[in-house]
Amino acid sequence: MADYTKEIEKRRTFAIISHPDAGKTTLTEKLLLYGGAINLAGSVKAKKTAKHAVSDWMEIEKQRGISVTSSVMQFNYGDYCINILDTPGHQDFSEDTYRTLMAADSAVMVIDASKGVEAQTKKLFKVCVMRNIPIFTFINKMDREARDTFELLDEIETVLGIQTCPINWPIGSGKNFKGVYDRETKHISRFFAANNGQKTVDTIEVELGDEELDTLIGKENHAILADEIELLDGASSEFDLGLVREGKLSPVFFGSALTNFGVETFLKHFLNMTTTPLSRRSNEGLIDPVKNEFSAFVFKIQANMNKAHRDRVAFMRICSGKFEAGMEVNHIQGGKKMRLSQPQQLMAQERKIIEEAYAGDIIGVFDPGIFSIGDTICMPDQKFAYEGIPTFSPEHFAKVRQVDTMKRKQFLKGITQIAQEGAIQIFQEFNTGMEEIIVGVVGVLQFDVLKFRLESEYGVEIRLENLAFEHIRWIENKGIDVSKLSVTSDTKKVRDMKGNPLLLFVHSWSIQTVLDRNKELKLSEFGRE
Ligand code: G4P
Repeated sequence: MADYTKEIEKRRTFAIISHPDAGKTTLTEKLLLYGGAINLAGSVKAKKTAKHAVSDWMEIEKQRGISVTSSVMQFNYGDYCINILDTPGHQDFSEDTYRTLMAADSAVMVIDASKGVEAQTKKLFKVCVMRNIPIFTFINKMDREARDTFELLDEIETVLGIQTCPINWPIGSGKNFKGVYDRETKHISRFFAANNGQKTVDTIEVELGDEELDTLIGKENHAILADEIELLDGASSEFDLGLVREGKLSPVFFGSALTNFGVETFLKHFLNMTTTPLSRRSNEGLIDPVKNEFSAFVFKIQANMNKAHRDRVAFMRICSGKFEAGMEVNHIQGGKKMRLSQPQQLMAQERKIIEEAYAGDIIGVFDPGIFSIGDTICMPDQKFAYEGIPTFSPEHFAKVRQVDTMKRKQFLKGITQIAQEGAIQIFQEFNTGMEEIIVGVVGVLQFDVLKFRLESEYGVEIRLENLAFEHIRWIENKGIDVSKLSVTSDTKKVRDMKGNPLLLFVHSWSIQTVLDRNKELKLSEFGRE
């Protein structure tokens, strides 16, 4: 086997997750700056203009180039080759956001120091936990008034249920933010508001208790810091790399992405602690990234990047070995040997055709409509398939009707194709056929996307009627007689595209009631694609 071990071991593939406005874009931008991948901070911000009005799908379409380009960013830093996966936030929060996490080996969770754990952080965190990937916490905006540090850590532990281990500790916040104390080296990095955007920060080697610190950060701050560190040493979890790797302990860093304070320290520690590309489960056991030849799985499909051709790009995460352009591969689910065409990789702002890529990397390939989310691609003499990607629970539901009943065929074709791409999920009444279609989405923007795409690509106008359901559960019992289940008045029995039975609920408490009434019933929050 050719020796590409080194290339693979250089790779660090991670996603940055946060609630909107916590600072994910700013942090990403600063990380790219260190890698020299962008010359000026602000390039990633281009995407921010995509804080579009929901009705503005035309604009979204135009900006697709940008949002696709920024969906994976690769750059080198020291001996590392870093792949950052972007998880869209804001209104474009969707199934893709979740699936992207399936392609990451670790996650960086950005938290706003004045707000703590927020709704979207919780949702994304759940997916990380499901995969047991390491989760690193960056508590951002320390240059603004922050909540009490212990309180913040306590919230992460109780709300998210993960232990925390601060790697550094903030000295004050807001106007009184003096810097951070590194618990390992016991050095202080001093924050100067003036060093906005500069790459380097002053690290001052002063021990706690040293008089010099009194002048440096003020007597009072010094005393508080000494107390807090004493308390922390007694109370916090010990650093344990094993637990970090299992996703059970989150190393915590404090900083200010905007002023670029604490970002490089974070990056260095993070790269040391996070993993090289992880092995992945397949139906033939774990596939080791180094010992195996090329294999990948599809985690995202982006359709109609070029409207005239109705083309699609399938994004795949390489899980093992080396990819070479033009090589023959086996598409397991399609049962066909093929060559991947126009393999592309994204380097910050540019898209380029690539010749080779390695385990840990993400490539986009031209998809003539043959790939589905979760598909495996491997060498021609191999036959294993990676474990499927879960179907994430939609949280918004609407009934869809076409305006012109003559266009039934186009309507069904369009909506089925869009569902196959994974942008929406479609359900039908349990006992009837496709007469009534219910669409479920993770982010409400997808409703507008659906409406726009059906009109512009399939010539079908639709009406959407919002439904009150907010919870969905797949029925796990095989062969159960769904019509006999005793359910509450706010429960609806439906089927997904593959015919799997599900229940939709308006109220979360109905889920328990239904379980109580049907003792044998087993429900699951996720389906499998
Ligand atoms: P997001 O991607 O997580 O949604 O957050 P983003 O980075 O866009 O940051 C949200 C807002 O918070 C931005 O301000 C950004 O400048 C600000 N911000 C990010 N990091 C810090 C920090 O460390 N300290 C302070 N004080 N602010 C920070 P905005 O006004 O919404 O956008 P802009 O007009 O500055 O672009």
